[in-house]
Amino acid sequence: MGVKIVETGLRDGHQSLFATRMTTDEVLLTLKELDKVGYHAIEIWGGATFDACLRFLNEDPWERLRKVKKVCKNTKLQMLFRGQNILGYRHYADDVVEKFVQLAIKNGIDIIRIFDALNDIRNLECAVKATKKYGGECQIALSYTTSPVHTVEYYVNLAKQIEALGADSICIKDMAGVLLPETAYELITQLKANTKLPIELHSHCTGGLMEMTYLRAIQAGVDIIDTAISPLSGGTSQPCTESINYALEGTKYDPKLDKDMLNIAASKLAKVKQKYLDNKTLNPKVLTCNPNILKYQVPGGMLSNLISQLTQQGALDRLDEVLAEVPNVRKDLGYPPLVTPLSQMVGTQAVLNVLNGERYKMVPKEINDYLHGKYGASPAPVDEAIRHKIIGDDKVITHRPADDLAPEFKSLKAQYKDVAKTDEDVLSVALFGDVAIKFLKQRIEDSKPTTIKLEA
Ligand code: CO
Repeated sequence: MGVKIVETGLRDGHQSLFATRMTTDEVLLTLKELDKVGYHAIEIWGGATFDACLRFLNEDPWERLRKVKKVCKNTKLQMLFRGQNILGYRHYADDVVEKFVQLAIKNGIDIIRIFDALNDIRNLECAVKATKKYGGECQIALSYTTSPVHTVEYYVNLAKQIEALGADSICIKDMAGVLLPETAYELITQLKANTKLPIELHSHCTGGLMEMTYLRAIQAGVDIIDTAISPLSGGTSQPCTESINYALEGTKYDPKLDKDMLNIAASKLAKVKQKYLDNKTLNPKVLTCNPNILKYQVPGGMLSNLISQLTQQGALDRLDEVLAEVPNVRKDLGYPPLVTPLSQMVGTQAVLNVLNGERYKMVPKEINDYLHGKYGASPAPVDEAIRHKIIGDDKVITHRPADDLAPEFKSLKAQYKDVAKTDEDVLSVALFGDVAIKFLKQRIEDSKPTTIKLEA
C-alpha cells in the first residue's frame, strides 16, 4: 500500500498563493480530471474559501460545494474546519457549529478536518461530536508549531487525547512550514507508536525544506500527505503533487497517481495561475522560498497578509521589523500557534507595535478577548505584566469559551427570514454577518425579473 495523497491546490493552494480568489468556474475547470487521478481526497472547501466567495467573488459557497460534488463522484471531498470558530474569526454557539457540520456533510463534504488554533481540546468537542453524528469522517489536526512547550512529547500527549475523543485520523497541520525533516521523522515515529490512527502530514513549502520533510515523514510511516498540483504548488503552498508522485514511483510508497490526468489538469490550471500573475493578485514574492520563516515561524497566508497590510500603509520597508516582532508577541501571549485566527491577531499586533513605535499602545479587540480567556487556554502562561497593561484587573475565564454562548441559530433564522431563504443562508449570515447579508440581498435583486417599459 503506497502513501495516500490529498490534493490541496483548490483550497490551500490558491488560498496561500493568491488570496483564495479562484472562482467556482475555475475550481470546476479540472475536477473531472482530478476525480480520476486516484487521490485519497480533494480538499475543496473551508478555510478562507467560504469568506472569499461571499466577500470578494459574489458567489454562494454552498452552491460551489454542490457543484463540486456533482462532478467529483469517485473522490472524497475534504474541508478545513476551525473547531468552535467554524470558518469565521470568533467562537460560535454549539447549535451553529452542529448545524454547519450537518449541512456541510449534506451538501457534499466527506472528511472534516477539525483543528483549534490553541490545541485546546474543549474547542474541538462540539464539531467532532457533530461530525460523527451526521456520518462524516472526522480528522483532528494538531496545530504544529515550535516553542519551548511544543515538544514531540507535547504532541504525542495531545494525539492520545484526540484518539480518545473519537477521531478517525490525525493530521499534523504545519501551517507555517517549519517542521524540520528529522523532527518529522521523530514525531511521526512516536505518533505511530503511541496511537492506532492513520497519520497525515500537511505543510507548506515556504521555508524551502518541505520535500525533504515529506520524504522523512514517509520513511517514518506517515499514511497520507497533502500536496498541490503543480501550478498551485510551491512557494507558500504545498509541495507539488506530480513531483512527489515521480519521486516515489516504483518504491513501496508509490502513490500510483494517474499522470495523464494530472498533466491535463495542470495545463488548464497554469492558465488560471497566469491570470492571477497578470492581475497581480499573485505576487511572485510568495513563489520564492523564504528561509526567514524558519526564524520567524510565519505561515504563508500570514506572510502575504503582512505584505499587503504594510503595502497599503506604505510601510513595506518595515517588513523585517514586523517579522522580528512576531515571535516577541507570541511569547507575550503564551506561544499560540500561528494559524487562523491567531495568525491574523498576532500579525496585526506586531504591525501595530512596530508602526506605533510603542508596544501594545493599540490593541485589537480580538487580542483583548484572547487575554480574557475567550479563545481558550493558551499553550503556555501569558505575560502577566502585559496582560495587566491591556485588561487591568478584568476577570479571566477558565471554562470552555462557548459555554457562555446562548443558542444563536433560531433567532438568526427569524431575524433574517427576508434575506436568508435556506438554513445554509442562515449559516452564511451567522458566520459573516453584513458581508453575507449584502450578498444575499444582491442575489434577491438579481433574481427579480426586469420589467421593460413600453413607450407609446
Ligand atoms: Co495549510
